[in-house]
Amino acid sequence: MATQAAATSEIAAVGVIGAGQMGSGIAQLAAAAGCGVLLLDSDPAALSRAVASISSSLGRLVAKGQISQAACDDSIKRIKCVSDVQELQGVDLVIEAIVESEDVKKKLFVELDRITKPSAILASNTSSISITRLASATSRPSQVIGMHFFNPPPIMKLLEIIRGADTAEEVFSAVKCFSERIGKTVICSQDYPGFIVNRILMPMINEAFWALYTGVATKEDIDTGMKLGTNHPMGPLQLADFIGLDVCLSVLRVLHNGLGDNKYSPCPLLVQYVDAGRLGKKRGQGVYSYG
Ligand code: CAA
Ligand code: NAD
Repeated sequence: MATQAAATSEIAAVGVIGAGQMGSGIAQLAAAAGCGVLLLDSDPAALSRAVASISSSLGRLVAKGQISQAACDDSIKRIKCVSDVQELQGVDLVIEAIVESEDVKKKLFVELDRITKPSAILASNTSSISITRLASATSRPSQVIGMHFFNPPPIMKLLEIIRGADTAEEVFSAVKCFSERIGKTVICSQDYPGFIVNRILMPMINEAFWALYTGVATKEDIDTGMKLGTNHPMGPLQLADFIGLDVCLSVLRVLHNGLGDNKYSPCPLLVQYVDAGRLGKKRGQGVYSYG
């Protein structure tokens, strides 16, 4: 399929939509690589939190001598917070990192397709949703791609790239080069529910909830078991809180619906926590409480 996508050398201006845990880290990475970044969120409070979190994250790098204070200041200056999607009309690449809902993401992709210049690449940081279906909401499916970052984006080395059914080869190459430019190691996945990492990770997290729900052990012992028994940096329940229980539940539902196997059916305890607004660390309460 013909594409008008920008070459990687032309990716100078990046729009990041969703200034939550992921979007703030992604904006930081793009700014640190020298791009001008427009960071957009529908919630002004999220933008304020993002600016504080980016400053703190870059500040840690300065304190460790990994970047200079001038580089930190320059990165911060390259990020402009915006609230109107129209402002993204000139960007070369959009990375969407809003709520994990296919309907909400599709609506945004329709709008982005209308607003952005024809050469712009539209990427989604979705954890599990079909890139092909998001692409089908636009008139430029060859320029839509999955860029799946890991939390926290400034620290985690991996980036999973997902080609939709119509993603053009030059778009894939441009995004791969850009991903390497921001310091990531790239893996490629077919466009199947949960891609590679979440297909494997989320059933483990779900199983940890089942173990807690059915009284196999306390949350602390489940987490300590997996931390010390398998050398994971965090136990699965702690990791679920860190990711966001809403995100974990959405991914499990995509796996369950998309793969049609009851082994992906979300544990009722996870569902109940999300229903109760216990979304994890970002809300101060999940499996654990955060002071
Ligand atoms: N910005 C900059 N630096 C940061 C940072 C940030 N946001 N967060 C942590 N760091 C740095 C710290 O400064 C510290 O650096 P030094 O070792 O040089 O001092 C280092 O990272 C470790 O941080 P901490 O000591 O504060 O805490 P920790 O040792 O517990 O590590 C962690 C924190 C890196 C998050 C670690 O616990 C970890 O790797 N956890 C697992 C994370 C993971 O699995 N993420 C993937 C989730 S799945 C996903 O993302 C996909 C999806 O779709 C859901
Ligand atoms: P989050 O809840 O921290 O942030 C989402 C942000 O998007 C919020 O600030 C919200 O106000 C904003 N938002 C929602 N709808 C919007 C819209 N229509 N327009 C503009 N802004 C909107 O979520 P997160 O953890 O950063 O996750 C964001 C995306 O990244 C999801 O698709 C998630 O699956 C994916 N992801 C999450 C993780 C993780 O560990 N949390 C890892 C990889 C990928």
